[in-house]
Amino acid sequence: MSNPTLHVADIPTLSSMAHHKGVKVVVDNTFAPMVLSPARLGADVVVHSVSKFISGGADIIAGAVCGPSSLINSMMDLHQGPLMILGPTMNAKVAFELSERIPHLSLRMKEHCHRAMVFATRMKKLGLKVIYPGLEEHPQHALLKSMANKDYGFGGILCLDMGTEERANRLMHHLQNCTQFGLMAVSLGYYETLMSCSGSSTSSEMNAEERELAGISPGLVRMSIGYSGTLEQRWSQFEKALARMHQTTN
Ligand SMILES: Cc1ncc(COP(=O)(O)O)c(C=O)c1O
Repeated sequence: MSNPTLHVADIPTLSSMAHHKGVKVVVDNTFAPMVLSPARLGADVVVHSVSKFISGGADIIAGAVCGPSSLINSMMDLHQGPLMILGPTMNAKVAFELSERIPHLSLRMKEHCHRAMVFATRMKKLGLKVIYPGLEEHPQHALLKSMANKDYGFGGILCLDMGTEERANRLMHHLQNCTQFGLMAVSLGYYETLMSCSGSSTSSEMNAEERELAGISPGLVRMSIGYSGTLEQRWSQFEKALARMHQTTN
């Protein structure tokens, strides 16, 4: 699932095309742990930023490369292996902390996905431009449904296209500072909702033309939906922020 546009790659087709040509397939599954199991769908290597959903606490910097032992062992080669040369051996205490969080990753992902689906559906009903793979009009909705593990849903990230950066920033200001719906931060996968305007933050290394080609509107707000508070309390905070935004516009 791509960042931030939430395009969904057809892993089985890409894997079969690549394997025909003798090419390895690497999938970054940071956005959809538990939801997708890329190795079962044909990918050779799966990478994760563990700092996100897998950690869940926005307090750990870690990553994972999952693949066949031949590849992992070659990466750990004492003289040539990038893992040895770049030194990413995880601190043992951090590894222990993560091992205590992985058992509830499944429950956490289900709630992230459930709330993202409810919010996306309600935001759409309000007439907002929502991008979420759980909505039927998403171009890869059926594809994701065919690949996803049962009962997880469609991911914990949704995007709202507010048109302009100014409107995106104004909405996030109200959501964070007036109604406490979430926090402005470029990370994701936390129990609080995190929001960022991708074009001027995580994708700002691209120029305007590249962003347009990638489908990243200047007003795109990426939201990593959290699960703290009750769903209805959070929704009412969202609606209040939107109403305030409209009041201040008029
Ligand atoms: C999809 C995806 N992969 C990888 C990363 C990189 O994460 P890290 O900075 O923890 O290496 C990010 C960061 O936002 C991401 O969104």
